[in-house]
Amino acid sequence: MSYDLIVIGTGPGGYVCAIRAAQLGLKTAVVEKRKTHGGTCLNIGCIPSKALLYASEKFEEAGHDLAALGIITDKPKLDLAAMMKHKDDTVAANVNGVGFLLKKHKIDAFFGVGTITAPGEVLVKADDGATQTLAAKNIVIATGSDVARLPGVEIDEKAIVSSTGALSLDKPPARLLVIGAGVIGLELGSVWSRLGSKVTVVEFLDRILPGLDGETAKQFQRILQKQGFEFHLGHKVAAVEKQAAGLQVAIEPAAGGERSILEADVVLVAIGRRPVTEGLGLEALGVALDRGRVVIDDQFATNVAGIYAIGDVVRGPMLAHKAEDEGIAVAEILAGQHGHVNYEAIPSVVYTMPEIAAVGATEEELQAKGTAYRVGKFPFTANGRARAMRHMDGFVKILADAATDRVLGMHIVGAGAGELIAEATVLMEFSGSAEDLARTCHAHPTLSEAIKEAALAVDKRAIHI
Ligand code: FAD
Ligand code: NAI
Repeated sequence: MSYDLIVIGTGPGGYVCAIRAAQLGLKTAVVEKRKTHGGTCLNIGCIPSKALLYASEKFEEAGHDLAALGIITDKPKLDLAAMMKHKDDTVAANVNGVGFLLKKHKIDAFFGVGTITAPGEVLVKADDGATQTLAAKNIVIATGSDVARLPGVEIDEKAIVSSTGALSLDKPPARLLVIGAGVIGLELGSVWSRLGSKVTVVEFLDRILPGLDGETAKQFQRILQKQGFEFHLGHKVAAVEKQAAGLQVAIEPAAGGERSILEADVVLVAIGRRPVTEGLGLEALGVALDRGRVVIDDQFATNVAGIYAIGDVVRGPMLAHKAEDEGIAVAEILAGQHGHVNYEAIPSVVYTMPEIAAVGATEEELQAKGTAYRVGKFPFTANGRARAMRHMDGFVKILADAATDRVLGMHIVGAGAGELIAEATVLMEFSGSAEDLARTCHAHPTLSEAIKEAALAVDKRAIHI
């Protein structure tokens, strides 16, 4: 079997790359070791977590927020099995959809572990041991990432879980201890907190969500604390011991100091993810790695001719849409076009309630670079639609270049932030200014008016505050 392109891994990076390549006329095959397509994102990541976040948010709303709107209900009851079925059905529909799209584009799909035995040659080993050798002019590695482990804390996916186990618990644990105040810890912590768990988070650094704008992270931490989260910042987990009454978690100050003990029924290890390269044969081929990630140039090419890499397995944020855009770009490059990803304008969203969304630079990054900037902020308490919806937590913050007024970053805490950030991303793609935003008519009453007001605030002329 001979192809123009073989893509190893059918996560958001790989399957999107294959579809774009097929659209451009390349004879394309994919190799996937999982039984279904869609990778981490569709099977055990973005999609199942968002299904549970949505359902648990509704549960929380039904229990606490409806009376203020004049809707009196009985105390809602949790049918966790039905909630999990909603999640599983959502996953099934999505992964089957990818299978359909691959067929529609006449992409051959091979199931099994792919190993690059030589440039232009991929060996596929199926679960039953059967092997097959495929040939291709080019190969794209899109093998993604896996859970990072904490030495001495053995994940059994029952009492000590990774994100995968935390998406399938059979009951809300009375006490959930989360290691790591990153995106996974706060999203899945929110799910179980809403369903009744007492959530405690132990974080090595002295802040939550590293990489997020500092002021935004601080405000969000306060909101989570109001929701019942307890944080032990600047602490690390030294040991987790299983006892008859539950888990004993020993924590220590990150800088060293006295140990203390926290008790939990379930521990979620959410300290990051690591790139997946094992079994690919990269060492024998001499493909360069940097701290486990495949090294690529600005054309997504590795140091070995004909081998490219994209997504979580290469540098940059581990995000599905970043992987997808890289997949499109590399397919276009291989078809002789000029594929490109603008890394300055990759949005990120934390799907909690309220949501956090950001694109571009943080204040800390601008300060470190010595860029002079102006800040415009507008709180949702002063937005009519937010009041009508009783979603007044949070703000919009715009950072604009002091000299040119070009928007360099936008940070939103608030209901619907994940949808609102698209406006900022488009603006930044077109190198737009705060003045451009401020002079754009925004429908009333919408949450997006808070963006217009924040843009006006950059020039100290917000109307509603
Ligand atoms: P992956 O999706 O990891 O896919 C890689 C594929 O390669 C896998 O299917 C794997 O089986 C296969 N593979 C690996 N090695 C081989 C081999 N040798 N042969 C054959 N196949 C192989 N990102 C967001 O943007 N938004 C979110 O809301 C979000 N939520 C998340 C929630 C959770 C709980 C987790 C864990 C992650 C989340 N992410 C989210 C991150 C997102 O899932 C990843 O950034 C994204 O999946 C990366 O895509 P990828 O194609 O690079 O790799
Ligand atoms: P993360 O990198 O977001 O956060 C990990 C946190 O754990 C950090 O705050 C880190 O300081 C802390 N930590 C590391 N070692 C520790 C230790 N020993 N003790 C205590 N704390 C420790 O990683 P996370 O949350 O596991 O997510 C992995 C990736 O998945 C993220 O990079 C993210 O890009 C992606 N993801 C994206 C989502 C989204 O876009 N909504 C949702 C979920 C995951």
